[in-house]
Amino acid sequence: MSDLRTSITLTGGAVIPRLGYGTFKIEEGDTQAAVEVALETGYRLVDTAVGYGNEAGVGRALAASGLDRGEVFLTSKTWDHGYDDVRRNLEESLERLGTDYLDLYLLHWPRPGVGKYVESWQALLDARAEGLLRAAGVSNFTVEHLDRIEAETGAAAEINQVELHPYFSQPELRAYHAEHLIATESWGPLALRGGGLFDEPAVKAAAAAHDRTPAQVALRWNLQRGNVVIPKSVTPERIRENWETLDFALTEDELAAIDALDTGERQGGDPAVVGG
Ligand SMILES: NC(=O)c1ccc[n+]([C@@H]2O[C@H](COP(=O)([O-])OP(=O)(O)OC[C@H]3O[C@@H](n4cnc5c(N)ncnc54)[C@H](OP(=O)(O)O)[C@@H]3O)[C@@H](O)[C@H]2O)c1
Repeated sequence: MSDLRTSITLTGGAVIPRLGYGTFKIEEGDTQAAVEVALETGYRLVDTAVGYGNEAGVGRALAASGLDRGEVFLTSKTWDHGYDDVRRNLEESLERLGTDYLDLYLLHWPRPGVGKYVESWQALLDARAEGLLRAAGVSNFTVEHLDRIEAETGAAAEINQVELHPYFSQPELRAYHAEHLIATESWGPLALRGGGLFDEPAVKAAAAAHDRTPAQVALRWNLQRGNVVIPKSVTPERIRENWETLDFALTEDELAAIDALDTGERQGGDPAVVGG
């Protein structure tokens, strides 16, 4: 029904699924069961972070799933900065996740006040060269931060994971990504921190037209705008509902009506100030 590709090949050759499973705010004790539901449903990208405190649960779910390690695209992130601290964080994440490599590792926030994101980026490049990472990326980086790591190390990020939903669709940043061959990955795709998206007439009309839910329309808009999307839910029905977005397509008019919801205002933190 849809011609949407279900994966993207990053510049280093790693193949990332377009639709993944986010784990922010899932308690360690609930993580294994939730990730198992996601893997049973069909998700093959799991997104975690040191800061989520649930890597061990993700690792247990992967081990229990019976899937080969190569079948699942595993992402984690470091909050800490500085060459040695990033390297130590990565090694600890590998240990907790029960694996000897990550498909993708991200600098979670640029934390420009700390002033070390270039050397942190170099640590990711070196880990990728050693085979500990299939792909190296960043998260919550603005054009200024992306420009600087590329200028100072000669290597652009392969992907930038950022807040992205119809209320904050980041057109300038996505244009920069396209120019620099950086994939875009959307967090907070349901825009629930601000509320209201599911009641927008443009979203409700598209949902009714395709016999889908507003959440499915929000995710589908994000996919059709070219992004990797990683919705989170601990609720099995919602985990499955969010997966059912690969088999229908919004029309150009529906996409344009949803594009028009952009306010340019973030619901989450500002990369210029988060984390000092
Ligand atoms: N890099 C970063 O700085 C950053 C920041 C935030 C998030 N992330 C990543 O991106 C992922 C997604 O972002 P997010 O978790 O902030 O936001 P999200 O996926 O847009 O929203 C998650 C919330 O939506 C609810 N929900 C999920 N599916 C739903 C559905 N079909 N209908 C109604 N409600 C639904 C969930 O509730 P229940 O769980 O109760 O079902 C949860 O409260 C995270 O889990 C994390 O992996 C990264």
